[in-house]
Order: sequence, then C-alpha cells, then structure tokens
Amino acid sequence: MPEIIVKLKSGRYPIVVGSGIVRWLPPLVERNVEGGRLFVFYDAQFYALHGRRLHSQLKRVDRRATEMVIPSGEKSKSASVLNRIYSFLLDEKISRSDFIIAVGGGVTSDLVGYAAATTLRGIRWGVVPTTLLGMVDASIGGKTGINHRAGKNLIGAFWQPRFVFCDTDFLGTLAVRHLVAGLGEIVKYAGLMGERMLTPLESYLARGDLYHGRRLARLISLSAACKADIVARDEREQSERMLLNLGHTFGHAIESSLGYGRLLHGEAVLLGLWGAVELSCLTKPARRNSLSGYRDLIEGLMQCVPKRKIDADRLLEAVRIDKKRSRRGLNYVLLERPGRPFISAAVRPSIVKEAVRAMLRMYAVTGGANA
Ligand code: GLY
Repeated sequence: MPEIIVKLKSGRYPIVVGSGIVRWLPPLVERNVEGGRLFVFYDAQFYALHGRRLHSQLKRVDRRATEMVIPSGEKSKSASVLNRIYSFLLDEKISRSDFIIAVGGGVTSDLVGYAAATTLRGIRWGVVPTTLLGMVDASIGGKTGINHRAGKNLIGAFWQPRFVFCDTDFLGTLAVRHLVAGLGEIVKYAGLMGERMLTPLESYLARGDLYHGRRLARLISLSAACKADIVARDEREQSERMLLNLGHTFGHAIESSLGYGRLLHGEAVLLGLWGAVELSCLTKPARRNSLSGYRDLIEGLMQCVPKRKIDADRLLEAVRIDKKRSRRGLNYVLLERPGRPFISAAVRPSIVKEAVRAMLRMYAVTGGANA
C-alpha cells in the first residue's frame, strides 16, 4: 500500500492513498485505537451515500464505536457546532485514551480536528478525507479550526492526526465542481513542483474525464508528498509553509468579497493562481513564456468555474486586510517559473491592482458554467 510519511519533530504519521482500499482502514484504525473507544464524525452528505457501510467496518474495530453526523457546508465550522461536539464527547465520557476519526471534506476535518485538539487538552485523531481538496490539502499538516465573524479560520490550533486515509473510490460520487475545486489545489502543487507534477497533471486532464480513481491516486500521492515535505520542514508556517499559499491571497480575497460559499475554495484558488501568475510576470521575476504551459493549465480549468460577479474594489480591500499580512506588508507567493516559487513582501499596490484587473478580465472571458 503506497504510504507517504509526514516526519515531524514530535512524531510521524502515514498518508495512505489508493483506489478501492477501504478494507485497509480497519487494521490502520486498530493500530491507533489501542483498546480505547472510537468516536467517528461524518459529513452528512458523505454519510447519506457511504456512511452506514463504513461505520459497520469501523464497528469491527470497536463494537462500541459511536457516530455523530455533521451538517455539510462551511456554516458548520462554527462555535455552536463545535459546542455540540464537545457535549456529545463529554456526555459519552470520552477519555484521553480514546480515539476520534473525522470522515468528510475540509470542513469536517478542520472542525473535528479542533474538537480533538481541545477536548480534555487533546485526544488522538485520524482523518478519512472524502473530497479531493481534503485529500490533497486540508487533511494534511494539522491545521484545525473554526471560523469567526471576523474571518475564516481565525480560531484554531495545530494538532496533527495519527493517519490520513485517502480512498479515491469515495470521489466517484463527487460533483464535477468539487473535482475541479480539488484540481485547483493540485494545479497549485504543479506551480510549486514544476515538471514532476505538470506532466502527470497535463496527461490526466488530456483524457477529458475528470474522475479516474487510479490515476487520481497518483496525483494525490504527489501532492501529499509535496505538502508532507514542506510541513516536515516548517510545521508552524514560520517560513517555507507559506509557499502553500500560492494562489490563496487572491483566492481568499475572492471568497470573502463574494461572500463565503458563492465559489468553492478550490475554484477561487484557480482564479487566484491566474492572479499570482500575472503578478509574477508584472514584478518581472518571471518571463511570460516560462509560465505559458502553466497558464494553459489554469485557463483550461477556469472554464469550469461558475460565473460570478466579482467587484475589483471589494476584492482589493479584502487583499488589503488579509489576516496573513505582517508588519512588512503582505507576503505574496510568486513564481519565477513552475517549480521555482518564492515569497515577496515587496509588491507595489499599483502592481497588485493591475494583476487583479488582468485576473478578472481573464475570468470574464473564461468563466464557464452558470451554476
Ligand atoms: N492549506 C495550507 C496549509 O496547510 O498550510
């Protein structure tokens, strides 16, 4: 079974990736539960499709395994749903020797991971991501948290899971929009990794069909290995981990200026990647032609991003108040070429404005489905 190991100072954990591997989950859980009780939290949409089947497998590990279903969607990353999880766990008399599993997309793993980090000062946990975005990004690296009315992910903790288990069979029932959103994050990795990811991603997309479990498993493994390496070197995002924000400065600003949920996170990241490429060319570390293949890739997927009316001034205001701003200004992740990312805090506001306008022009031309 292909495994990627996240190696941290505090310990290591595997990311298991494959197609049709769900039978390997119970033994993996068993190794971690070590006789404790199992508490499993499911995303509601996933539960309706596959939950009972999966839960009966987990009952083989712990026949007392208890489940709770979390409403799907960003609204669940809230203090009120978190409180319901605390009450459930404490009413059930969870102890520090028990084990929590989050089964769902990024919302479920962020929320349940944070509950695991803070209940009884920390309960061990594992993640079974069921969206492509969850598999390549949200489930890896221990960022957990909830939203606050002041902004997204503003309350949280680093709390590393004991395993991440990705079976691409779960992606077969995912809506095309969610596959595209996950591919948006994989395009980000292509920017960070260069040819190692560009070539397999281009050949995957050339097939036209967005879901192929075995081939997707390869893209997920490459993405997970890239993230695992970066997180191992910079767990707390002091330096290199910021590279994982390629495309996210504009992406987050698009999400917040539109209102959360109008575009999926990965869709906004795709547009943000176009903006990051524009910015890279305008600040001149990159020659346009060194990024042309990468631009083609982004442009192709942008055609699947639904049309929304994005206001340039609101977007620029959201960039201005970005929570990742440091005293020196906002750190932009730029590309010299694919595989050569770097961080720059010295980007003039006039250039940012020009890049944003170019990004919105491109979106107006390419933005596809009227979902
Ligand atoms: N999603 C970016 C990170 O985990 O650092």
